[in-house]
Amino acid sequence: MKSAEFRDLEFDNVSFSWPNGVKVINQCSFVIEKPGLWMLVGENGSGKSTLFRLISGLIRPETGKIFCSFKPSLVYQNPDHQLLMPTCKSELMLCVPKTISYSKVLDLIQSALEKVDLGEMLDRPIHTLSGGQKQRLALAGAVVSNSNLLLLDEPTALLDPQSQDSVLKVVKKLTSSSIDPITAIWVTHRLEELFFCDGAAILKNGRISKWKSGSKVFQELKSLALR
Ligand SMILES: Nc1ncnc2c1ncn2[C@@H]1O[C@H](COP(=O)(O)OP(=O)(O)OP(=O)(O)O)[C@@H](O)[C@H]1O
Ligand SMILES: [Mg+2]
Repeated sequence: MKSAEFRDLEFDNVSFSWPNGVKVINQCSFVIEKPGLWMLVGENGSGKSTLFRLISGLIRPETGKIFCSFKPSLVYQNPDHQLLMPTCKSELMLCVPKTISYSKVLDLIQSALEKVDLGEMLDRPIHTLSGGQKQRLALAGAVVSNSNLLLLDEPTALLDPQSQDSVLKVVKKLTSSSIDPITAIWVTHRLEELFFCDGAAILKNGRISKWKSGSKVFQELKSLALR
């Protein structure tokens, strides 16, 4: 294990099974050491969403240890399952930490909307937003809540190419900002997205491979598909 000051997220020999007894995560170890956009690929049922539940603390490892110094936020495939309120403003109000004084709440919400390129949308009804705009609003919720780890579970799976692009661009901006860059782990089945990440890994047989460049993982998966 590395020394505490460098460990942002670390899995140390973590195993987990659902009640059917199958070990979905099996002696899995990995580290995320620095902010950036980290992508994770793996076949259907390989355990990617289970891994996110472990990171966010919704479920606990059977054996092994998880060290997480981040405040995580989950973003799902379908924003309609995540957004609850009638307008962007009221939605983001729900995410404001209780410690923020009332006079600062609107500024915080407006600044989060600007970070996700929705600066003009404060009073917009959510049902009038496109899918990509809804996903970016979900990202603004994570920003408002002061989260520094985005767990993005196929966030573009239901989006058209233009909206897909807009979400990728915003996450890239948040994770590469020169002031307080955040960390994102992005699960994808859309392999072309791998070219935008800072590192990618494959989840297989319950374990995560080494982090490699996105283009390398893209090539590996393409050559496997051609066999
Ligand atoms: N809440 C649950 N209860 C019981 N079994 C579950 C639960 N969630 C997932 N599983 C099982 O764990 C295994 C891994 O599922 P998981 O959803 O983590 O995979 P995934 O890699 O996210 O798949 P996909 O790419 O289809 O989203 C599957 O066999 C699934 O049926
Ligand atoms: Mg999944």
